[in-house]
Amino acid sequence: MPSGVGFSNGHAWKQQRRLAQVTLAKLGVGKRIMEDKIEDEAQQLVEIFASKKGKPFDPTLIITNSVSNVTHALMFGHRWSLEDLHFNKLVKAIEYTMHFGVSIFYVLYELFPSLMERLPGLHKKALEATEILLSLSKEEIQKHKEQEPTLEPRVFIDYYLLEMGKDKNKNDPTSAVDEENLAHTIHDIFFAGLESTSTVLKWGVLILANRPDVQDKNHQGDRRCFGFRFYLL
Ligand code: HEM
Repeated sequence: MPSGVGFSNGHAWKQQRRLAQVTLAKLGVGKRIMEDKIEDEAQQLVEIFASKKGKPFDPTLIITNSVSNVTHALMFGHRWSLEDLHFNKLVKAIEYTMHFGVSIFYVLYELFPSLMERLPGLHKKALEATEILLSLSKEEIQKHKEQEPTLEPRVFIDYYLLEMGKDKNKNDPTSAVDEENLAHTIHDIFFAGLESTSTVLKWGVLILANRPDVQDKNHQGDRRCFGFRFYLL
C-alpha cells in the first residue's frame, strides 16, 4: 500500500494531503513570513553568485542547495551547507530517481513490479535512492520524537507528531496518520518541491544569461521581467 501524499490514494491520500496543507499553512506557506525566508535564502544565493566575480561556474548544486534549504527548514528546522554529507547523498539519490523516472525501467517496473523486483537494473538503484531519502526523514523524525514534549511545535514533523498523538487518530484503525506516512510525506514534499523549483530556477538562469537586455531591465527594478511566485500544493 503506497504511503505519503504523492503516490497514495483514497482515504490515506486525502488525510495526508489535508494534514500537509493545514500544517504548511501554519508554518507560513503562502504568507509574508515564508516570502521573507525565501528572500533570505535567495540573498545568500546571490552572494555566492557574486563571489564568482563573473567567472564561469556550474550553478546546479548551489541552486539545489538553496531550494532544498527552504523546504528543509520547514520540515526539519535547519539548513544544510553545500558540503554537508547528507545533502550530497540526497542530491545523488534524487539524480538517480529522476534518471530512473525517464527510463524504460520505470515503465517496466510499473507494468511488472513483482517480476522487476527479481531483475537487476536502474529500478534497483532508484529504490535504494528512495530508501536513502526515507531514512534521512526517519532519522529526523526520531530526533523530534526525543525532544522535550512541552516544547511548542516548530516544524512540519512536530505538528504531524502532535496530530498522530491525538485520540481521533490513535483510536481510529482506518487512520493513516502514522510515522510511515510522515516519512513518506516528507520525502514526497521534498522531492516534488526540490526538483520542480530548482529546474525552473536553472532555466531562469540560463534564459537570463542569454538575455542581457532582460537582466538590465531587471536590475533597473522592473520586476515584471523576472518575477517568480511559488504556488505550493
Ligand atoms: C515550479 C514549481 C512547481 C511545479 C511546476 C510543480 C508542479 C506540480 C504538478 C504538475 C503536480 C501534479 C498535480 C496533480 O497531480 O494534480 C504537483 C504535485 C505536487 N507538488 Fe508540485 N510543483 C512545484 C513546486 C512544488 C513545491 C515547492 C512543493 C513543496 C514544497 C511541491 C509539492 C508537491 C506535492 C507534495 C505534490 C503531490 C500532491 C498530491 O498528489 O496531492 N511542488 N506539482
